[in-house]
Amino acid sequence: MTQPTKVDNIPLALIPPLRLRRSQMKFYRSLPLALLTFAAAQVLSPSIVEARAPEHTFAIGTNDFLLDGQRFEIRCGEIHAARVPREYWRHRLQMAKAMGLNTVCAYLFWNQIEPREGKFDWSDQADVAEFCRIAQEEKLWVILRPGPYSCAEWEMGGLPWWLLKNDEIKLRSRDPLFLEPAKKYLKEVGRVLGPLQVTHGGPILMVQVENEYGFLGKDVEYMGELRKTLIDAGFNVPLFACNPPSVIRNAFREDIFPVVNFGSDPAGGFRALRAVLPQGPLMCGEFYPGWFDTWGSPHHTGSTQRFLNDLDYMLKNDESFSIYMAHGGTTFGLWSGADRPFKPDTSSYDYDAPISEAGWPTDKFFQTRKLFAQYLLPGETIPEPPAKNPVISLAEVELTESAPLLGNLGKGISSKSPLNMEQYDQDHGCIVYQTTIPAGEAGTLDLGTVHDFGFVFLDGQPIGVADRRNNSFKIKLPARTKPGTLQVLVEAMGRVNFGEEVHDHKGIIGSVKLEGKELLDWKAYNFPLDKKMLGRLRYQKTATSGPAFWRGTIRVEKPGDTFLDLRSWGKGVVWVNGHCLGRYWDIGPTQTAYVPGPWLKKGKNEIVILDLVGPEKPVVAGLEQPILNEQHAEKDFARGHRSVVTLALDSAKPVLSASFEPGTAMQEVHLDSAKRGRYFCIESLNAFDGKQFAAIGELDVLDNSGRSISHDGWTVAYVDSEEREREDGSAENAIDGQTANFWHTQWGSAQPNHPHRLVIDFGKPQTVSGFRYVPRQGAGDVGGRIKDYRIYVGDNLVQR
Ligand code: GLA
Repeated sequence: MTQPTKVDNIPLALIPPLRLRRSQMKFYRSLPLALLTFAAAQVLSPSIVEARAPEHTFAIGTNDFLLDGQRFEIRCGEIHAARVPREYWRHRLQMAKAMGLNTVCAYLFWNQIEPREGKFDWSDQADVAEFCRIAQEEKLWVILRPGPYSCAEWEMGGLPWWLLKNDEIKLRSRDPLFLEPAKKYLKEVGRVLGPLQVTHGGPILMVQVENEYGFLGKDVEYMGELRKTLIDAGFNVPLFACNPPSVIRNAFREDIFPVVNFGSDPAGGFRALRAVLPQGPLMCGEFYPGWFDTWGSPHHTGSTQRFLNDLDYMLKNDESFSIYMAHGGTTFGLWSGADRPFKPDTSSYDYDAPISEAGWPTDKFFQTRKLFAQYLLPGETIPEPPAKNPVISLAEVELTESAPLLGNLGKGISSKSPLNMEQYDQDHGCIVYQTTIPAGEAGTLDLGTVHDFGFVFLDGQPIGVADRRNNSFKIKLPARTKPGTLQVLVEAMGRVNFGEEVHDHKGIIGSVKLEGKELLDWKAYNFPLDKKMLGRLRYQKTATSGPAFWRGTIRVEKPGDTFLDLRSWGKGVVWVNGHCLGRYWDIGPTQTAYVPGPWLKKGKNEIVILDLVGPEKPVVAGLEQPILNEQHAEKDFARGHRSVVTLALDSAKPVLSASFEPGTAMQEVHLDSAKRGRYFCIESLNAFDGKQFAAIGELDVLDNSGRSISHDGWTVAYVDSEEREREDGSAENAIDGQTANFWHTQWGSAQPNHPHRLVIDFGKPQTVSGFRYVPRQGAGDVGGRIKDYRIYVGDNLVQR
C-alpha cells in the first residue's frame, strides 16, 4: 500500500515527522489539522507544552495560511531587534501595528548571540525573546529567521568571525567544521525561542531555514540538515525558505515551504514561485520599499507609488508578504557588513522604509496604513500610531582631549610574518602591524592583500593608504638613509555579508614584500575597539594629527533623540556614553549618527570619536534631522573610487557576438571554447526598448567547470557611463550579487548612446567558459535591457 502523501491536501512533508506506527497513522488522518499540529507539539517537546497551552493554531492550508482554521493573510514587516535601541522596541512594534501590519519578521544574528565560540549571550540588544514577547503584547505575530546565515547587510551575514580561525572551513555547507557549530547554535535558539512558538502559546508562526541559499548552492541535503536541526531543537511550526525568482529552484525541498523575494513585478515573482509550489498560499518573503546604502554611493530611496501599487496587487490577489524593511533602524556597533565584492554598508539602515531610522512615520507609512485599512480581516483594527519620541538639538561642542592611536599601542604580539585578525583571536577593529625596514633606495612596498584599509606610516609619517575597494595594495616608499620603523594601521570594516566572499579574513593576509624581498619580524598591536580597549587609552589635553581617539563632553538638559553631526570628521567610529553608534565616513552618503534619547542622560555626556585620518575641526553638534544623502567624493582618500585606465578594445577580438532574450529571467551563456584573461568586457550594441541606455542586474562569470568564479578581488576596471546622481546606477551593482539593484548608464545630466562597455578586472587571469546574466529586474519594459552585445576576454582590454 502506497504511503499517503497528503492530509487535507497538505503535503505530509510539511508537517514535522512523527515516529508513528501504521495504525496510529490511520487514526490521525481523521483528526482536524489544527488538532494534528497540536498533537505533534505534545509529542515533540512535552516540557515546553507544559509551559503554556496553545491558544491558537497556525498552518499552511491548500490555498491560504490558516490561523485557527481561518484564512489568514500575512501582512508582515521586517524589524531587527539588534538595529533598534532596546528601549524603543515597544515603540517601533506599535508603529508597525499602526501601519496595519499583523506580523513582524525578525532575523537573528548568530555572531551577536554567540560572539565567542560556546559563549551564548542573549542580553541587551540580543534579547530576542523579550522582543517577541513585546510583539505578542502589541498583538503582532512573529516570523523568525534564525539563520545560521542571514545576510541583511550585517557583519559576515550573521556568521561568527571565529569560524574563520580554521581557514579550511566551507561556510554554509555540510562541512562539519561549519555544520557542528551551526547545529549547536540552532539548538540554543530552540531552547530560548522554542517556547515562544504559537504551538506553545507564543507569537512565532513560522521559522526560516537559512537565507536565500539558492544564490550560493544547490545542496538539498544541507537544507535538510538545517531543517532537521530546527525540528530537533523544538521548532514544530511550519519551516520555510526564501529565495529570489532567479534561483528559486536551487536546493528546493518539498518539506520546506518556499517563499519568493522580490522588489517589483509581483506577478513575475509569483509565477516563478508557482513553478515549485503548484498549490498553497503565495508569500513574498522580502518586498523592498527602498534599499540599503553603501559608503561612497548615492542614498537609496524607493518610489512610494510603485511600492503601494505592488502591495495593492498582492492584497487584491490574497498574496501574503513581508516588507523588508518596515523599519530599518541603525546598525550600531561594528555590525554593519559589506556588499560584495567590497562595498561597505553604512551604519544607518534607514532603507527609505515606511518607518524612518528614528521611528518616525513617513508619507510612505501613512499611505501604507491607508491602503491596509481597506484589506483588514474580520475583527482586525488598526490602532493610532504612538507618539513620536522627543527630538533635541545640541549646540556644537569641541572635543578637547585626544589619544593618538600610534601613541597608545599597548603590548604587542611578535611573529615572523604578519598574521590575519582572526589568527590574533581578534574579532573586529584595527591592528597596527610594525616592523623595521633597512636604509635604502626608494622602492615599492607590496602589502599583499589588506582587508580593508591600510594606513602606512614610516617613522610616524603617513606615506600612503592601501585600499581594498580597488585592490591597491602597493605603496611607494621614499629613499631612506637609515633603518626606519614601518607601521601599517589596518582598519577592518564589516566582513562581506553575501556570496562566497563572506569567507572574509581581516588584517594583512599573506606576506609583505619590499622590492620583492619579504619583510620579517613583525609586532602587531590589537585595537578591537571594545570597552576594555577604550578604557586603556591615555588622553592628552591637546589636539593631535593622524589617527587618534578624541574625547569630549556634551551637556544635555532634557534627553531626546538627536543626530550627531559628523561632517567635520574623516573616517572612523563614534561612541556616546559607551554606546557604539557605528561607523562614519565623510564621503557619505550618511553624515550623521543616530543617538537614541535613552542613551543620553541629563547633564554631562561623554563622546569618543576614533578618526583614522583626522578631523577638519574636532567638533560635534546634535541635529534634529538626519543627513542621509550628502556625498563628498572629493574627500575620499583614494581620489576617485577607481584607478584611471583607458579602454583598449581596438586591438581586441570579441570572443562572442550574440543577443540576449527579452524579459527578466537569468540567462546562462557559454562560449564556444574557454578563454583566459584578467579582464572580462561586456559591450552593449543596443537595447530592447531601442533607447540609448544599458543596464545589468547581475553578472556572474563561469570557470572551466561551469562554476561561478568567486567575486573576491574583483573590481570594475572601466565603465563608459553610470548614473550616480539621480540614482545609484553604479557599475559595481552588476557584480555585487544582489539582483534587486543594477548598473545603469547615465540618464540624468547626460544620455550617452551605445556602445556601452563594462570591464571587470578579476585581479588575476581567469579561465572563462561562459557567464550568467540577470537583466535589470522589474515589471514591463524597464529601460536598459541589453539586446545585442559582444564579449571580450583578455589581459589587455584596458591600459593603466
Ligand atoms: C537579500 C537578503 C536580505 C538583505 C536584502 C537586501 O534579499 O535576504 O537579508 O540583504 O537582500 O537588503
